[in-house]
This record gives sequence, C-alpha cells and structure tokens, in this order.
Amino acid sequence: MRVWTIANQKGGVGKTTTTVTLGGLLAHAGHRVLLVDLDPHGSLTSYFNVNPDELEPSSFLLFQNKGEVPANLPGQLIQSTGQPRLDFIGASTGLAVLERQSASAGGMGLVLKRTTQILARDYDYILVDTPPILGVLLVNSIAACERIIIPVQTEFLALKGLERMLRTLAMVKLSQRREVPYLIVPTLFDRRTHASTQSLRILRTTYDQHLWAGVIAVDTRLRDASRAGVPPHVFDPLSRGVQQYASLLNYLHRSALPEQQREATLL
Ligand SMILES: Nc1ncnc2c1ncn2[C@@H]1O[C@H](COP(=O)(O)OP(=O)(O)OP(=O)(O)O)[C@@H](O)[C@H]1O
Ligand SMILES: [Mg+2]
Repeated sequence: MRVWTIANQKGGVGKTTTTVTLGGLLAHAGHRVLLVDLDPHGSLTSYFNVNPDELEPSSFLLFQNKGEVPANLPGQLIQSTGQPRLDFIGASTGLAVLERQSASAGGMGLVLKRTTQILARDYDYILVDTPPILGVLLVNSIAACERIIIPVQTEFLALKGLERMLRTLAMVKLSQRREVPYLIVPTLFDRRTHASTQSLRILRTTYDQHLWAGVIAVDTRLRDASRAGVPPHVFDPLSRGVQQYASLLNYLHRSALPEQQREATLL
C-alpha cells in the first residue's frame, strides 16, 4: 500500500481536483483506492455529494482518542464514491477545531499514519487531501505519506505559497527526522497568459529537480466533472485535463520508490 499526500498551503491551486482525478485514474487501472479528506471545508466530501456539515462518520473521529486509533474505527468511516474500487473517508466541519492546533499537543501527529497501517491490507493506494493551513492535520498527512504532491497554480502569488510549503517540509524534516520526497505539479496553466508562462519558467529554473516536466492546463471539463460528482475520467475520459493527469500518474509510477526502499528515507 502506498500513501500519497496532496498538499499546498495556498488555497485554490487544485489539491482536491488532483486528489480526485489521480484517485479515479488509479481505481480505473484496477487498484483499490481510498481518498481521505482532511480539509474542514470538505470539498472532496462535497464532490461526492456528502454534506460535511452533517454528522456523518468522518475523519474527525480519528482524532478523538488521544492520538490512538481503535482498530475497528477506520473501517466504520469509509464510504463508497459510487465508482468501483474508489472509496473515501469524508471530512466534517468539526475538523476546523483541530486545523490550527500543533501536532505535538497531546501526541496527535501519527493518527493518520496509524489509520493507514490499519487499512494497509484493504487498499493499494491512499490519497490524502489536506487543508491549506499548517497544523495538526497537515503534519499528520506528511507523517503518514511516502511522497507529497504539491499542485502549484502557475501565477505569481502561488509561487510565494510554494515557498511557504517548502519551509514547512523543511521544518517537518527536522522534527520527524524523515525526508519525504515531493513533486511540484504546475496547475491551471494557461499558455495564453504572461503570468502562466512566466511563472512556469520560474518554476523550471528554481525547482528543476522536484518539478514534474508537464503541466495541468486550465480545463473546464475538470470543473464540470466536479459539478457532476464523478471523477473526471468518468465524466470525460478524453478531455485534456484527464490526459494530462494520466501522464502525471505515469510519471509517478515510474519514479516511485520500490516498497523495500521506502524506509530508507528515514534520516
Ligand atoms: N486544471 C483546472 N482547470 C480548470 N479548473 C480547475 C482546474 N483545477 C482545479 N480547477 C477548479 O478550480 C477550483 C479550485 O480547485 P481545487 O478545489 O481543486 O483547489 P484546492 O487547492 O483543493 O482548493 P482549497 O485550498 O480551497 O481546498 C475548483 O473549482 C476546481 O474545479
Ligand atoms: Mg481542496
């Protein structure tokens, strides 16, 4: 089982879209996939037509046992997206009380990691959608994952957000004594705008090694798919957005660490 976290402290850069689209493509390829919504806004949860304001079983319950996770709890939180092999654990607005808390308070930093260990036999991939705020939820998702995917909108303000995210990763590296590989994915690219082409150029010169060579372009079909409540590959498999995410997934597969080498990232 592999755990990938999709994170960026900047909002609106395509985190949820990336989580749902990659998850959908993985499930379509035959893998058993679980999406975990850790964002109190619950966009991923709403995507699948579940209301994060209602008291459904949600990821919030994972954090209610002083950092421990009862073995039977994660299974009770899982819902189906309606697509084969694609499940999710929804968010609820209650998560907002945790969002800004520090992970060290009450030893809460490994809740998600314990959860993924409990579910290891049930899924091939767990993809975690995170809130754009540094706190216990983001720290948990970094601690639990094998790699981080950082969607970055190709515009100038987003580059600042990326710097913040990378500072967070450096800090987590010190406190968790663990280096987590990350991949920057340029999103919402529009080659007709100066802001897009310039910021892509800056990304390429500054973050070369950690940057995916492709881009995810602006594609209204991705937005339409979220309105329809189905993963983009179901809504329009031939759309440009889906094709570009498929090529990102190909790259992720090719560059994945072999399972036996993953613990080697421990410092
Ligand atoms: N490549 C794209 N082309 C067109 N629209 C997109 C694309 N990627 C995302 N969007 C749209 O942009 C909006 C923001 O995307 P998304 O919700 O995935 O970002 P986010 O980083 O998860 O935001 P937040 O930080 O608020 O959770 C959504 O309406 C989504 O449908
Ligand atoms: Mg989101």
